[in-house]
Amino acid sequence: MKNIRYFFILGFVLVCNTAQQMTSISYTLESGQISNPERGFYIHTEAPSTRTTYPLLTQYTFDNLKSQGFTLILRMFYLHKFVKSDISADYLTGMQNDFNKMRSAGVKCIVRFAYSDSQSNSVYDATKAQILRHIQQLQPLLNKNADVIAVVQAGFVGIWGEWYFTNNFGMEPSSTDLANRREVVDAILAALPTSRMVQIRTPVLKRNLYSISSALTKEQAFKGSNTARIGHHNDCFLASEDDYGTYEDISIDYPYLEQETKYTPMGGETCNLNKPRSQCATALKEMRQFHYSYLNSGYHEEVIQGFKNEGCFSEIQNKLGYRFELVNGLFPKSATIRSTITISLTINNSGFASLYNPRNVYLVLRNIATGAQYPIGLKTDPRFWEAGKSTVITENISLPIDLGVGSYKLFLNLPDKESLIGSRPEYSIRLANKGTWEASTGFNDLLHILTVIN
Ligand SMILES: *[C@@H]1O[C@H](CO)[C@@H](O)[C@H](O)[C@H]1NC(C)=O
Ligand SMILES: *[C@@H]1O[C@H](CO)[C@@H](O)[C@H](O)[C@H]1NC(C)=O
Repeated sequence: MKNIRYFFILGFVLVCNTAQQMTSISYTLESGQISNPERGFYIHTEAPSTRTTYPLLTQYTFDNLKSQGFTLILRMFYLHKFVKSDISADYLTGMQNDFNKMRSAGVKCIVRFAYSDSQSNSVYDATKAQILRHIQQLQPLLNKNADVIAVVQAGFVGIWGEWYFTNNFGMEPSSTDLANRREVVDAILAALPTSRMVQIRTPVLKRNLYSISSALTKEQAFKGSNTARIGHHNDCFLASEDDYGTYEDISIDYPYLEQETKYTPMGGETCNLNKPRSQCATALKEMRQFHYSYLNSGYHEEVIQGFKNEGCFSEIQNKLGYRFELVNGLFPKSATIRSTITISLTINNSGFASLYNPRNVYLVLRNIATGAQYPIGLKTDPRFWEAGKSTVITENISLPIDLGVGSYKLFLNLPDKESLIGSRPEYSIRLANKGTWEASTGFNDLLHILTVIN
């Protein structure tokens, strides 16, 4: 009797399971170069204020980016001429035109401001009051164009905006100098939408400005505090044992930076041939350890040429930033209308870093007969698809109430969050798989058809 009842229950469970029959799909990895937003090698460009007319970005730069599969430029806005005055209306208009050009070309920029690019001129930077006034002038422009700004380097202070050779902020900063420096960083953060981060030139600077001794934790990450919005850049990567003063004490700075850059952007450039440290082995090791998202493609020429000669340039190109590989997926074969389905995706991030800007993830259902599309937001936060790890995303999804009977192709879409460029394929994330990228929409085909029945 007991056995028979057990049999009945078992039989019922089996019937329910056939309705939820699942298909498992393994995806093929793409090992070659793929272009993706907010990561990779960048091209350095400058907009000096000393010309009679603003030097707009040229088509040559965009063609150069495109031919190499790059998506980032660094835009140095040199404000030499305005060290004691407001930024001119002409210069601000020129900046806006630059951002428009970037948007139509489908690229983004790393932004930096500075007042000097040479030690031979005795004026290295502006006073704090003047810098704060300039930030105030720039605020509307930075907000309006945040969609094409990947990240902002703190800049303003010192030659090249590198926070060292300074007239106004103390080469050996006193506590007053540190407070003034912090005021500048806080002002830049306040001038940007909270979705955007600022990068500081050395690890010790961030710790000293904000009186912190420990690195950002996973719990604090992306919560919007000023320290959660400050990442790092190194403009003399591999140049010497301490990267020309980037590091004060490697035993403290290395573990600190390794943890910080899990949740904040890291990037920079090389500046000196320094074998063997500036060769592939250490370059790859430290780019992985410190989660590099970008690197200057043009400087230092000999270091970059060394990467090419030694054969690691394309590996660096592929791994800078995130690289999301779809490993497998589990989907129901069919579902009844208005029901809840469970899907599961395994995504491996084989890049050096995670995403640093917020992004939504959508499962898109496309009706095969009509082409009608139904995007459904997933709960997963892709900024936590950490580098060097596989993330399993399992979610229960309520089918939209207006989704009728039919066959639906499934896609994964990671578009830009900003509405101006949200439907542009160049700004959507392409997964590192073969046969999944739909270039016309920027969707990733999950290679599965879901049948929806009554
Ligand atoms: C994920 O990527 C890393 C780095 O390429 C690789 O070592 C690892 O085997 C991958 N894991 C899976 C499950 O594919
Ligand atoms: C999905 O729903 C089932 C049944 O309600 C529940 O047991 C499971 O924990 C849910 N899974 C997720 C990832 O929310």
